[in-house]
Amino acid sequence: MIDTGPARAALQALTTEARAQQHLGLADRLDKAASGTRAPQGNTRARSATIPASVEGSLVQVNARRKLKDLVLPPHATMEIREFIDEYAEITLLRSHGLEPRHKVLLVGPPGTGKTSLAEVFASELELPFLVVRYDGLIASYLGETATRLRKLTDYVSQRPCVVFFDEFDTVGKERGDAQETGEIKRVVSSLLLQMDSIPSHCVIVCATNHPELLDRAVWRRFELRLEVPLPGRDEIAQWFRRLVKDFGSKCNVSEKNFVDSLIGKNFSDIESFTLDIRRKIVLSRGSVSPDQAIQAALVKLEHRKSHLGEAENRQPSDSSNSSHSASTKKNQRRKKDDSASGTLI
Ligand SMILES: Nc1ncnc2c1ncn2[C@@H]1O[C@H](COP(=O)(O)OP(=O)(O)O)[C@@H](O)[C@H]1O
Ligand SMILES: [Mg+2]
Repeated sequence: MIDTGPARAALQALTTEARAQQHLGLADRLDKAASGTRAPQGNTRARSATIPASVEGSLVQVNARRKLKDLVLPPHATMEIREFIDEYAEITLLRSHGLEPRHKVLLVGPPGTGKTSLAEVFASELELPFLVVRYDGLIASYLGETATRLRKLTDYVSQRPCVVFFDEFDTVGKERGDAQETGEIKRVVSSLLLQMDSIPSHCVIVCATNHPELLDRAVWRRFELRLEVPLPGRDEIAQWFRRLVKDFGSKCNVSEKNFVDSLIGKNFSDIESFTLDIRRKIVLSRGSVSPDQAIQAALVKLEHRKSHLGEAENRQPSDSSNSSHSASTKKNQRRKKDDSASGTLI
């Protein structure tokens, strides 16, 4: 078994390349050289993979349906993602010139802004299996065992074109919940990052985090596309509103500005629940409530709830954990409110 990182990665890259070009005999021989034992692969662009027992607990395959157009993103972010996807799609051309496509992505942003959805988008747009890492199955009681599992995982994903998703990857290790938590996280993350370097470029690695402050610069540098996925700004919420109105297929008299004013500071997850509520109301009314009325009523309810929450906060200054958390969240939201969502590269 060839086990020096770059040599192994190069061999695996060649194998995939050969298979993509239908040089199946050559691919099998290369594969054999790389592993000595591995069974020949099937269609390299298969959207599904059979998860073997060796990685069953730590990897789960998820059906990726969401497309890039389904998400509302700042134009800059859409452009960066499109470029990345187009680049990967030209892997054969790039390799024929001795180049590799970028394949390591870091998504940074608060909860509910679309990081998981974006990981799915990479898989569905590239028509690759979407493999999500399960930390409860990856992290063992002994660090040595965790490292072995991680090794099996990277070995497995290296064999095929796929998208592997490490969600909240800075929290790796938290499953153990012991006092050594931070040390464990750091060790597993650094072990993961080391192994990441030997994963060939046909395997797209997407990592997401809400806590970029936990990652040091050396970690950041390993990612070839670092994308900040911010809370939606006014433009993105307006775009959401226009999609909603279009879906209703009726001329809508609710002001876009009111909608945006009420929802600014919320994440997409909240905005989605808000609009799902509206849709449910319309359906359940069996035609007696128009989209206009439903949106208007939902906005009034939201404003009402906001002012009540505000009052509750003022009344309970001593509830330090909750009030300080929500106060800082509010402060953050106010700050974000002024920033138009930029989807900056970091
Ligand atoms: N940019 C977006 N455009 C459209 N819907 C979004 C977007 N971001 C999130 N959502 C919706 O919000 C929900 C939660 O998003 P998710 O991708 O899980 O966020 P995160 O991983 O950042 O917490 C998803 O069901 C998705 O439909
Ligand atoms: Mg997520």
